[in-house]
Amino acid sequence: MKIEKIIKSNIKNVDFSNLDFGSVFTDHMFTCSYKNGKWLEAEILPYQSISISPSARVFHYGQACFEGMKAFKDQNNKAWLFRPKDNYQRIVKSSKRLAMPCITEKIFMEGLRNLINIDLDWVKPGFGNSLYIRPFIFADQESINATESLNYKFMIICAPASSYYAGDIRVKIEKSFSRAAKGGVGYAKAAGNYAAQFYPTILAKEQGFQQIIWTDSSNHEFIEEAGTMNLFFRIGDTLLTAPVSDSILDGITRKSLIEIAKREKIKIEIRPIRVKEIIEASESGNLKEIFGSGTAVTVLPIIGLGYENKKYDLPRIENSFSSFFKKKLNDIQYNISEDPFDWRVKV
Ligand code: COI
Repeated sequence: MKIEKIIKSNIKNVDFSNLDFGSVFTDHMFTCSYKNGKWLEAEILPYQSISISPSARVFHYGQACFEGMKAFKDQNNKAWLFRPKDNYQRIVKSSKRLAMPCITEKIFMEGLRNLINIDLDWVKPGFGNSLYIRPFIFADQESINATESLNYKFMIICAPASSYYAGDIRVKIEKSFSRAAKGGVGYAKAAGNYAAQFYPTILAKEQGFQQIIWTDSSNHEFIEEAGTMNLFFRIGDTLLTAPVSDSILDGITRKSLIEIAKREKIKIEIRPIRVKEIIEASESGNLKEIFGSGTAVTVLPIIGLGYENKKYDLPRIENSFSSFFKKKLNDIQYNISEDPFDWRVKV
């Protein structure tokens, strides 16, 4: 791997106490091109703009997918990744669905390790601080023929992060628009899945919600996921989450929380969830909590719900499941507790 280091780090110009998620990047980036049927030599370069033809297929047909992962620093200044192999496996799944070549595990893992080690000072210790890592692949062949590209670029960029959302989160259960249909690309981390969400989310924001809860595209009867996270509902003392499917992203935080719940003997049901049952539970006072799970958001409590022009507030409760799960997860991620699941990987 070729490595070209930056002459003068930009780190001194960054206010780490006031980070806007995903808008400040570390000093370096990783890049590897795919041409003539193979991945070429990888490079780590100073973070910079790249040159790409206006006819590159990614601009016209959206052939691109990505991952989201995080590195955490412990009190001894050691950095840790969380389940990186799962991210690797998911980018392979996404690439296959989008007719893109699969990056090799060696390039993915060595790229990650080398890049994080070079930019290690950007990973700050302390709960809530992390390095958000964004691996992505896109089609850069010059051609607007509507077929799969022959050339691609795999890159990794990193952004120091604190929280994703500032303030309280309310979500709207969407009944008109759909995120994903059966047989579509909903399970892939396809760039276009996110673009398609922006317009309905803008409309929801105008009504006072920060995100949408997507429902099934056939009848809008069943809960799927939210725009940047999977969802958990607590009815009484039972936790519910929807099963993953071809229209729901197989979230790594989601499956981690399921495993923690099982280990902690918290009653959890992974089954289709009807919108009706959530609304009824809210009306009867049995809906105790809703929270989202995702790499960027970690575990995010939701304080209100909107459905068919009605707004429902969630009770503010002590000893919430969301704070319990967040602590359990963070303790593993920051190397504070034992890791009975073997999720933590030293950088
Ligand atoms: C993540 O949580 O890593 C995601 O990919 C969501 C994102 C669009 C911020």
